[in-house]
Amino acid sequence: MLVALGPLLFALLGLLNRDRTAAVAEPLNDASRTLSSAFAHLNVTVGGRLNSAAPFEQACFSILEGQHVNASATACADLQANYHNPLYRVANFSAYMAPHWETCQSSPATDGCLLDSNNASNPLAFEGADCRLGNVPPYYIIVQSAADVQAALAFSNSTGVRLSVKNKGHDFLGRSSGRGTLALWTTELRNISHSAQFQPEGCSANITYDAITTGAGVLAQDVYQFADRVNRTVIGGYHQTVGFSGGYFLGGGHSILSPVYGLAVDRVVEVKVVTPDGVFRTANECQNPDLFFALRGGGGPAFGVVIEATHRTEPQLAIQAAAFEFTPTGTDLADWYSLTLDNALAWANEGWGGHITGPTLIYVNPLLNTTAARASMQPAIDFVSARNGTSVVEELPSWFAFFEKYVLIAEAAIGYEGTQGTRLLPSRLFTNASALAELHTLVTDVLPFANPYIIAGTPWLYEPAPGAAGATAVTPAWRDAVWHLSLSTRFAYNDTLADREGRYRAVSAHIQGFRDLAPESGSYFNEGDVYEPDHEVSYWGAENYAKLLAVKRK
Ligand SMILES: Cc1cc2nc3c(=O)[nH]c(=O)nc-3n(C[C@H](O)[C@H](O)[C@H](O)COP(=O)(O)OP(=O)(O)OC[C@H]3O[C@@H](n4cnc5c(N)ncnc54)[C@H](O)[C@@H]3O)c2cc1C
Ligand SMILES: *[C@@H]1O[C@H](CO)[C@@H](O)[C@H](O)[C@H]1NC(C)=O
Ligand SMILES: *[C@@H]1O[C@H](CO)[C@@H](O)[C@H](O)[C@H]1NC(C)=O
Ligand SMILES: *[C@@H]1O[C@H](CO)[C@@H](O)[C@H](O)[C@H]1NC(C)=O
Ligand SMILES: *[C@@H]1O[C@H](CO)[C@@H](O)[C@H](O)[C@H]1NC(C)=O
Ligand SMILES: *[C@@H]1O[C@H](CO)[C@@H](O)[C@H](O)[C@H]1NC(C)=O
Ligand SMILES: *[C@@H]1O[C@H](CO)[C@@H](O)[C@H](O)[C@H]1NC(C)=O
Ligand SMILES: *[C@@H]1O[C@H](CO)[C@@H](O)[C@H](O)[C@H]1NC(C)=O
Ligand SMILES: *[C@@H]1O[C@H](CO)[C@@H](O)[C@H](O)[C@H]1NC(C)=O
Ligand SMILES: *[C@@H]1O[C@H](CO)[C@@H](O)[C@H](O)[C@H]1NC(C)=O
Ligand SMILES: *[C@@H]1O[C@H](CO)[C@@H](O)[C@H](O)[C@H]1NC(C)=O
Ligand SMILES: *[C@@H]1O[C@H](CO)[C@@H](O)[C@H](O)[C@H]1NC(C)=O
Ligand SMILES: *[C@@H]1O[C@H](CO)[C@@H](O)[C@H](O)[C@H]1NC(C)=O
Repeated sequence: MLVALGPLLFALLGLLNRDRTAAVAEPLNDASRTLSSAFAHLNVTVGGRLNSAAPFEQACFSILEGQHVNASATACADLQANYHNPLYRVANFSAYMAPHWETCQSSPATDGCLLDSNNASNPLAFEGADCRLGNVPPYYIIVQSAADVQAALAFSNSTGVRLSVKNKGHDFLGRSSGRGTLALWTTELRNISHSAQFQPEGCSANITYDAITTGAGVLAQDVYQFADRVNRTVIGGYHQTVGFSGGYFLGGGHSILSPVYGLAVDRVVEVKVVTPDGVFRTANECQNPDLFFALRGGGGPAFGVVIEATHRTEPQLAIQAAAFEFTPTGTDLADWYSLTLDNALAWANEGWGGHITGPTLIYVNPLLNTTAARASMQPAIDFVSARNGTSVVEELPSWFAFFEKYVLIAEAAIGYEGTQGTRLLPSRLFTNASALAELHTLVTDVLPFANPYIIAGTPWLYEPAPGAAGATAVTPAWRDAVWHLSLSTRFAYNDTLADREGRYRAVSAHIQGFRDLAPESGSYFNEGDVYEPDHEVSYWGAENYAKLLAVKRK
């Protein structure tokens, strides 16, 4: 209804952020007065939890939105020391794990507020630079209940202000920020509970699961710890601060235990969600099954704002861990990738999952004993030993023990600017000798550009349940994939628009080789290429996409 809302929001933000008495004194036109009073009303409705955002990095800058301010040396030093600390970043609304999504990337140096992510102490990034809010939503509500989401939807409906949803801020494609939007920050939805006999609402008494229910804002690490305390295992991602009941499961959710236990979308049994019509709904196999299907891989907030989700658990498991590392020389790296390619299918058949990146491999297996695990990994042990590297195959008593010992030191670094592209590599590339040879060549050829990040985290041995209980929206390509392969590159803080576009395009071009090798396959919504061609088919498959579209229209 109101015109030019983006600029208006910023004008309003300017007023609110400046001196409040000055704001009152300044003449407001009718449109901004209406919007201003709508915001004030919204703030009362949500119990005063409407906040205005300030740039995360502002402490280091002495110009903020064109105005002179005093930088704070102590706060800046604290920020610099924690620039790559996920627990520090996750606590701040304006901070994103991939910080370039805090900026408008067509002019990041002038419409953002970042430090040099390769050296946060580099004064050239902040001295004399203007710190701007960029792509960070100027207003956000700290969501405590479904009622807050309903209030925001009604506000959006009557004012035309767009909404965005942020949880833990891990999105690789900037889907949780948004210039000029009102954000719903679900980070404080931290309830967590366990039931050995969870009965989805509306299901008959014979359908029960051992399950854990978590609010959207619970960190992966906290879910793992909680599950461990109740002597159960939760299957989840390879990072401590990913939002377990947020973007992670909504987009698919892979784990290094997925080869045996499925993707996150295979394991969720109930979702409580506010749909765009403002209704708080329960979706499971027995009620709203079409919505339940859409929430299992449809992605992000497309079908509503999740308040909580319930996930099946497994018993406490002993896990075999295999960890290898060496210093490559000559053709070692290409030979190492070749060895892992040659063993990929056998390892998948034995229940292994894990990550390979350059000369390191960390795999887990919940099915084998240590003797069998070591025998299975012998080719890798021999290869690494011949290069004086380190190799460990050992049993850990639980997923949480594995997580604390291995994941915390190996998880992907955050606070860097960059991009990636991915492809799901189907089994035929591994069973057909000439196709495997082509894959070898492609991997070797791509090494000068980037070491492929291999995620053996596809649901290779997992059989989905029949009917509504097992219906998910992710591309069926997941089910036949042996590897999920990723290529990435980083930007420098002062890269120009042309530099950035060049890097986005270079990643896209290099992943194209893998698309060409398996055009029938797909890729992962949460880890896609910004230029993903034919993304509807790539992320969901043509059939699922048509069903998703019907649910979206409904
Ligand atoms: C360092 C790192 C490690 C990762 N590791 C893994 C991994 O091991 N396995 C894996 O599968 N993925 C992994 N990912 C990808 C991750 O799953 C996605 O980025 C995921 O979307 C993060 O969800 P979030 O809620 O934490 O992020 P956010 O950026 O807050 O949100 C992501 C998306 O979900 C939407 N959203 C968030 N909360 C809600 C909600 N309550 N209701 C509705 N929509 C919501 C947002 O609008 C946005 O579209 C990783 C990402 C990073 C950066
Ligand atoms: C919302 O109300 C609270 C409590 O009255 C106040 O502290 C806060 O500044 C208000 N938010 C905005 C954006 O004005
Ligand atoms: C900055 O600090 C100086 C000296 O301490 C002070 O006079 C000035 O008012 C401050 N400026 C702002 C914008 O806070
Ligand atoms: C985040 O950082 C900004 C800028 O330093 C600060 O104003 C804000 O209070 C911090 N906390 C949250 C929860 O956003
Ligand atoms: C980072 O920048 C600071 C300040 O310019 C410099 O002293 C330091 O050597 C740099 N560190 C690295 C690792 O380049
Ligand atoms: C979280 O749990 C508390 C205590 O049981 C409850 O009062 C509250 O409503 C729950 N919050 C949500 C969002 O479900
Ligand atoms: C949006 O506004 C229209 C017209 O007033 C109304 O019919 C509809 O129910 C509203 N939707 C929401 C979610 O408030
Ligand atoms: C549960 O019971 C209903 C009848 O009450 C029956 O139709 C259904 O097949 C049963 N389901 C399972 C999984 O046993
Ligand atoms: C934990 O679970 C395992 C596997 O189900 C079981 O063997 C063990 O007895 C349980 N421990 C406790 C303390 O309940
Ligand atoms: C390990 O597993 C193998 C294969 O299942 C079995 O033959 C062997 O006896 C087991 N070894 C131990 C020590 O349990
Ligand atoms: C490995 O270490 C041994 C003993 O120190 C040494 O003789 C050998 O040359 C080393 N091999 C490689 C490939 O570095
Ligand atoms: C094996 O792969 C090659 C090259 O990709 C292809 O031409 C051939 O048709 C495949 N063979 C079978 C049996 O699928
Ligand atoms: C970017 O910053 C680096 C380090 O601060 C500097 O060496 C380089 O010249 C800068 N590049 C451009 C294009 O300004």
